[in-house]
Amino acid sequence: MRRSGGSPAAYFFPARVHRLCHMRILIVGNGGREHALLWKLRRDAPDAEFFATQPNGGMAPLCTAVHIGAGDIEALSGWASSHRIDLTVVGPEAPLAAGIVDRFEHKGLSVFGPSEEAARIESSKAFSKDLMRDAGVPTAEYRTFSNLAGAQQWVRERGAPIVVKASGLAAGKGAIVCMTEDEALEALGAMLGDLTFGEAGREVVIEDFMDGEELSILAVTDGVDAVILQPSQDHKRVGEADTGPNTGGMGAYAPVSIATDSVIAEVRSRIIEPTLQAMSAGGAPFRGILYTGIMKTDAGLKVVEFNCRFGDPEVQVVLPMMKDSLLDLMKTVAEGGSLQSGVAAARTGAAVTTVVASGGYPESYEKGKTISIPDDLESDDCIVFHAGTRTDEGRLLTSGGRVLSVTSVASNFTAAAQASRAAADRIEFDGAFFRADIGWREGLRQQRTATGELA
Ligand code: GLY
Repeated sequence: MRRSGGSPAAYFFPARVHRLCHMRILIVGNGGREHALLWKLRRDAPDAEFFATQPNGGMAPLCTAVHIGAGDIEALSGWASSHRIDLTVVGPEAPLAAGIVDRFEHKGLSVFGPSEEAARIESSKAFSKDLMRDAGVPTAEYRTFSNLAGAQQWVRERGAPIVVKASGLAAGKGAIVCMTEDEALEALGAMLGDLTFGEAGREVVIEDFMDGEELSILAVTDGVDAVILQPSQDHKRVGEADTGPNTGGMGAYAPVSIATDSVIAEVRSRIIEPTLQAMSAGGAPFRGILYTGIMKTDAGLKVVEFNCRFGDPEVQVVLPMMKDSLLDLMKTVAEGGSLQSGVAAARTGAAVTTVVASGGYPESYEKGKTISIPDDLESDDCIVFHAGTRTDEGRLLTSGGRVLSVTSVASNFTAAAQASRAAADRIEFDGAFFRADIGWREGLRQQRTATGELA
């Protein structure tokens, strides 16, 4: 295997096990996020029957496959109706942005996720930034452009480093951190001139560069109140020590020691609550999972982005740490009920997930490589979540850039990181690589605390 270069008082939602009601639950999507959702919901409701759209190689043995794509909303809503699905959980942003929740609700189906209008918090960066500005939510200075000359002039005035973002959905590739003006002009030329991001890049947001440490905060919300899940940290760069191009995420860990109770309280009062109020005031209450990407800068906490769905790979550490029932929260929201604001209870210890990726990712890579996972690798404390895998005549094959996400849970961060790394190293396929430094900032902090450098 090659390595790459609260207050909050604990929120008490009883972890009810849904033994009596034999629910039929459909998961829309088939990546690492959806495998983690399936894993958690099966624990919350061991007797439920699970269905998933075109499940990957790890999900397939755990559910019944629905041979309809996540984007075929009409066919999926018809299928869910005729198959008496009690709850549909939508994983990816694209069907949410295309209105899957509105369509399901129109048919009287119970579905967890935001409406098309509310999903604009992710599907339109311009909308999201304007919302933050109007609601007084701290974020970087920005301007929105659909005209190349105007955008170029702004970059020249503002200078570098600077961030150029496609306003629309761009499969996680639409934010380009430009360290020089030339890089920014090139990014603008690609987006607004050559339309390399298609419709998503017809409008761009140009944002001031922010420096600091990132935090991902996932909150289940009914549109008014929010239950905040354990904070986590993603690693977007492909290379160790955060070098190389951005990816969808090469690993994550939870908890994050910089996310103290006071930081979480501030995220709630200065970011999540005003955002939910602004969404409701604008006629698009946000119900579902609100993902807030935060930067802890010298000037305080600032929002990098909002997403309308669970973070991936963050969810692969947040859910294994979650003690409360996710299903209870999702059902309450999907059925139009109210949550009680708080913090979801998490188990003690830490979780680290290491993504094993295809050689060449995030640029071009080959698919169809045979994957070997030792039989004794998985245990209660080691879960291999599948992302880009499929099975063919009993063989497990790669089918994407991020292939597997290997999560270890242990009594402390160091043990979890070591176990996740060791487990990732035992997985083999041609070209496989992973980052062996997931959680390096946390590791450094812990060393410095141990030596008395950090009081
Ligand atoms: N890990 C980043 C995201 O899910 O958007």
